[in-house]
Amino acid sequence: MKKIEAIVQENMLSSVVNALKICEVGGLTIIQSQGIGAGARPMLRGARGTAKFQAAYNKISTIITVVEDSKMDTVVNAIMNAASTGTTGDGKIFVTNVQEAFDIATKQSGNNIL
Ligand SMILES: Nc1ncnc2c1ncn2[C@@H]1O[C@H](COP(=O)(O)OP(=O)(O)OP(=O)(O)O)[C@@H](O)[C@H]1O
Ligand SMILES: [Mg+2]
Repeated sequence: MKKIEAIVQENMLSSVVNALKICEVGGLTIIQSQGIGAGARPMLRGARGTAKFQAAYNKISTIITVVEDSKMDTVVNAIMNAASTGTTGDGKIFVTNVQEAFDIATKQSGNNIL
């Protein structure tokens, strides 16, 4: 099993969720997040006057889904297609191995609980 964590721009959330539904993932978790990348954050205008300042954080959404190994490429490509504008700050996808998964209600484990 693989855990796929997609960090995307906040306004791409619904597009990514729709793409994951089409991939028929078993479930997903959404975390509204704030982030900092190596790139510059957007410039914001102050409440008064014309002074501009750099936002402290990027507004991002983190979408987590755990899938069976054979689905990883499909899911990663679907997220990239859904979330990409081709410009800076589009986000990142991190994939990690999942050692085991348990369903709390049935106390079952393994691929078939996803
Ligand atoms: N190494 C990292 N580890 C964890 N989260 C990261 C990492 N790099 C980026 N992120 C997350 O992804 C968000 C977007 O980062 P991304 O790298 O796409 O853009 P950026 O650094 O702002 O600009 P650029 O596209 O020029 O790199 C960040 O705000 C942060 O939340
Ligand atoms: Mg970056």
